[in-house]
Amino acid sequence: MADIVHQQIVLGVTGGISAYKAADLVRELTQGGVEVQVVMTEAATGFVTPATFQALSGKPVYTDMWDGRVTNSMAHIELSRGKNAIVVAPASADFIAKLAHGLAGDLLSTLCIARECPLIVAPAMNRQMWDHPATRRNIEQLIRDGVAILGPASGDQACGEFGPGRMLEAQEIAEAITAFLAPKILRGVNVLLTAGPTFEPIDAVRGIANRSSGKMGYAIARAALDAGARVALVSGPVSLTAPAGAELTRVERAEEMFEAVKRKISHADIFIGVAAVADYRVDRPRRQKIKKTEKKQLQLKLVPNPDILAWVASRPRRPFCVGFAAETRNLDAYADEKRRRKRVQLMVANLAQEAVGSDNNEVMLLDDTGTRRLARAPKDVIARQLIAHIAKLYKGVSRKR
Ligand code: C5P
Repeated sequence: MADIVHQQIVLGVTGGISAYKAADLVRELTQGGVEVQVVMTEAATGFVTPATFQALSGKPVYTDMWDGRVTNSMAHIELSRGKNAIVVAPASADFIAKLAHGLAGDLLSTLCIARECPLIVAPAMNRQMWDHPATRRNIEQLIRDGVAILGPASGDQACGEFGPGRMLEAQEIAEAITAFLAPKILRGVNVLLTAGPTFEPIDAVRGIANRSSGKMGYAIARAALDAGARVALVSGPVSLTAPAGAELTRVERAEEMFEAVKRKISHADIFIGVAAVADYRVDRPRRQKIKKTEKKQLQLKLVPNPDILAWVASRPRRPFCVGFAAETRNLDAYADEKRRRKRVQLMVANLAQEAVGSDNNEVMLLDDTGTRRLARAPKDVIARQLIAHIAKLYKGVSRKR
């Protein structure tokens, strides 16, 4: 979609054993659609070679202030121009001291002091270096200067000791950067979201479930939080960790999901029904385990579940409603029919066989203005594109109210 602007960052890698985690960080970020320009200090090249970062980022790596590849010998200025942030990960105690004092004796420190964009720093060092009064002073100075500090974590250290100073994992840093960079297009908006499958009991140990993993719903919850929304997440049974900041309600059955939605709906500005809600439940599930008998057949009576999305969409002062349609064929026609029947403003359609359980997805967006296709991409990328589209439609609707 043309609206999606790719974010660009400079990743500064300084000398520390966790420089190897920075390689993973480049992968995480580039897979999430962020362009990464790596700049290394000389000490960093003693831990990981520039060739590794070059291969992962697809761009030449810079280490030297006088690099002839940058026009006018202005690498210290040019490399950060137009970037959305400089991220230093790992940031050694030495580099943090340089930043705190405004020293600019090498390419990376000069880029940091000559920057126009935000600076994010992920410290990594031995616990005694982290606890040293000089490091404490330097970190406090950086915070006063408006630098964002990510971590460090506490745990086993490369030196064999245990304590604070470990760099955060690549995925945690990538998530924090993504959140930091996301435009706050839903600031202050209340989003209520259902995600995951439901589990409809048959007896004390068995039930009817489906293959929904919850990945798409959780990715949308995270993207909404990153965009500044307050998010209430009503989730069926999944093995995922809820995004930090979401208000999580765990449920099993569709009726429980419906009750949770009813309790929260009056606060919602936007409702997104991503959950794969079972259409039917077993009438009077048995309290005890059903025993096998000589009978040839066992009959279960199924009764319809409430349609949560249709209920939300038919309320008098309804929120902006988004539904998901997972189909195995005739995607456009079935999804559009559902959109009209359930009276939702936006229907997101995907092929069940492509989407369910997968890390990637390819979706179609159907609303009153027409149909758009989002090309196959990781679910977190699709989620951000979707949130951008929802924010645009929501603002259009709320202006008319
Ligand atoms: O009708 P179908 O189940 O295909 O519709 C899918 C959409 O409706 C999804 O957004 C889903 O979360 C929602 N839905 C619901 N309650 C149901 C069935 C579906 O909210 N009982």
